[in-house]
Amino acid sequence: MKNIDSKGHVTGKSLYLDDIPVRQGTLHAVVFFSPVAHAKITGLDLTAAKNYPGVIDIMTAHDIPGENQIGGIIPDELLFAENETDFLGQPIVLVVAESERIARRARQLIKITFEELEIVTDPRKAAEKGLLLTPPSIFSMGDPEKKWSRCKYVFEGSVEQAGQEHLYLETQGAYCYPAENGNLMVHSSTQSPTAAQRTIAKVLGISMNQIQVDVVRLGGGFGGKEDQATAPAVLVALASQKLEKPVKLVFSRSDDMQMTGKRHPYSSDFKIGLSSDFKILSYEVTYYQNGGASNDLSPAISHRTLFHTTNSYFIPDVKATLYSCKTNLPPNTAFRGFGAPQGMFVMESAIAKAAMELHVPASLIQKRNLLKENDLFYYGQKARQVNIRKTWKTLCDEYRLQEKQKEIETFNQRNKIYKKGLALMPITFGISFTNISMNQARALVHIYHDGSLGVSTGAIEMGQGVNTKMLQVAAHAFSIDPKRIKIESTNTTRVSNTSPTAASSGADLNGNALLVACNALLLRLKSFAASMLGATKKDIEFIKEKVYLKGKETDLTWEKLIQQAFLNRVNLTEHGHYATPVIHFDVEKGKGHPFAYHVYGTAAFVVKVDVLRGIYEVEEVDIVHDFGDSLNQTIDIGQVEGALVQGIGYMTMEELRYNNEGKLLSNSLSTYKVPDIYAVPKVLNVTPLKTTGHSLAVMGSKAVGEPPLLYGPGVYFAIQNAMREFNPQYASFDAPMTPEKVLMGLYPQNKSVAEPAKTEKRLLKTE
Ligand code: MTE
Ligand code: HPA
Ligand code: MOS
Repeated sequence: MKNIDSKGHVTGKSLYLDDIPVRQGTLHAVVFFSPVAHAKITGLDLTAAKNYPGVIDIMTAHDIPGENQIGGIIPDELLFAENETDFLGQPIVLVVAESERIARRARQLIKITFEELEIVTDPRKAAEKGLLLTPPSIFSMGDPEKKWSRCKYVFEGSVEQAGQEHLYLETQGAYCYPAENGNLMVHSSTQSPTAAQRTIAKVLGISMNQIQVDVVRLGGGFGGKEDQATAPAVLVALASQKLEKPVKLVFSRSDDMQMTGKRHPYSSDFKIGLSSDFKILSYEVTYYQNGGASNDLSPAISHRTLFHTTNSYFIPDVKATLYSCKTNLPPNTAFRGFGAPQGMFVMESAIAKAAMELHVPASLIQKRNLLKENDLFYYGQKARQVNIRKTWKTLCDEYRLQEKQKEIETFNQRNKIYKKGLALMPITFGISFTNISMNQARALVHIYHDGSLGVSTGAIEMGQGVNTKMLQVAAHAFSIDPKRIKIESTNTTRVSNTSPTAASSGADLNGNALLVACNALLLRLKSFAASMLGATKKDIEFIKEKVYLKGKETDLTWEKLIQQAFLNRVNLTEHGHYATPVIHFDVEKGKGHPFAYHVYGTAAFVVKVDVLRGIYEVEEVDIVHDFGDSLNQTIDIGQVEGALVQGIGYMTMEELRYNNEGKLLSNSLSTYKVPDIYAVPKVLNVTPLKTTGHSLAVMGSKAVGEPPLLYGPGVYFAIQNAMREFNPQYASFDAPMTPEKVLMGLYPQNKSVAEPAKTEKRLLKTE
């Protein structure tokens, strides 16, 4: 089935926050944010801004009737900075005006004076100073310390990973208008309508039932709207409550890039020990996570890093320590993969380092250590229905990887200017929120008496196709034409206490809740059909809009059945609740069974590096991915392709640069390069692994949203392998691998590389 949004998207008719027709009298807001990363605010002169024609109000922390607090997990984040600012981009003032243009002009008139304080942007420096957001987290199994002496080989190293900007096409924004009796209606571009509702209630000092949050769809979220969409929603609600007017706030791209947090940069140390036959016996890792100025989702992200520390491998002795470091950057936040890519990249770097030192292909070490059925993840969960070896083998066979490796060797012998590299990237990703209590969802199904359906769930559509999947679930449950079903907006008044649509579990949690509601309706309708046909309920089936009795078609259609059910006063509305069974976790001990299941896959990358220029091309990516029994293969393959390209961007060209003063230098699309169509691999194959699915995945269809981003590191190691064909000494692990870094890495001794103008001339001549 096609994505139900495809026509709307292509014709431009799909509605986003900014498409909502504004009400008469709507006011527009912009945020004045801290121009420095760490300072004591000594003065704030708002007079000129207040007096600017068309300005309605200038709001600060003093205008908050409830608490000046928006921290999601830990209450450590102010809505408005008061005496001190902790990062460049932190909101201090909200300017509300008749138009956005006026608000922007007035913003320029605000004068702030401050005393600068010491700025820390480096996580290791923060850790040295004891600046931690939470106490260190340690997960372990066995004791690596005792095992080093038993290892034949032991290697150590350090790894740097930069962050990543979400660059959702639709920036953060919200629109609020007052309803009667102090109630508020909020439209928000959020993955987490309940978080917006809860936090608005806290800041405004009202109760949750006074706030209705509605979301039609997002122009992308990628985790960036799991927590950080809350602030704009609270800001418009605050202004709307005070002024009793509709208020709209949509971040400009530049404001969005400067104010919001990103994927966490990590700086890490590893130690890996192997036996003579390349079994990994022992692994120790310390992560310095750059958390930014407050916690945001960092505690949960830390846990997911720790859960994915050993990627797809069984290692008997493991110890992982994570320091979540407080720096003067915007609070870093959820981003597709949620800390897992960082953990897995360090593991793969350790393997690459060992392979390089031992003069064996990394794939040999990778393959030898892949998880088997019943192996223990070091956090205590037993690996079940393990498909990692199957994806690895299918990939090697189907895409002739041995032959490809030989072709690459021949190519490298024959070519001086171009070198090719191959790398494999196995992935294993746990499905469930790492916070157990979040693994629940609800759905509301109305069957209208003309036979059409209105379906509401807690799932947010952000391009990943969850609405199409919900529609498929309902159509399948009743065996009716999908055209009868409408997926309603996500609305906190219809479906309450929603978990964010995140952790790749939107379809699983909401789809299973929807099945619960549909199955209850189905039972009721079967009883009613049985009474109409003078039969018993177990003899009734619904097949393609017809009622069947003992396997035979009757002339009772879906529409007739529903009309009759309504006239006979049968309840045609049902509410479903689902909570993932089985899962549990003891955070203190670092042990339990946190995931409903795991998603597996393996990718192979072939890249070609131009050793004169340092530029490279991804020639081919082949993937064998475990979708389970996919509900919608078109959507799921689209998710793999999109996540792969996003992962390639993360590992190659997307380079976030801050100066020492904590100012983001790459704060626009001219300085921050994201993948375009030319960055998509020339050849990209995705083969679904043949499996029966998983009982805890919705209708056997495994979660797909985040896992394929984890293939990204494969491109990094493929580039490194190509580089080592030219400079075998190259041994640093520092992502992203920009062409600049490639060039520096190819000619480490060559001073001229540091002088771009000269180098360019010299290279042009050689050509
Ligand atoms: N796909 C698109 N097109 N846009 C997005 O914003 N977000 C990703 C992924 N795929 C995203 C996407 C992230 S971070 C998650 S957690 C999942 O979708 C969330 O949706 P799901 O749980 O329904 O898979
Ligand atoms: N993934 C995404 N978001 C989350 C998680 C998670 O595991 N836990 C809490 N929020
Ligand atoms: Mo996704 S990072 O869990 O929103």
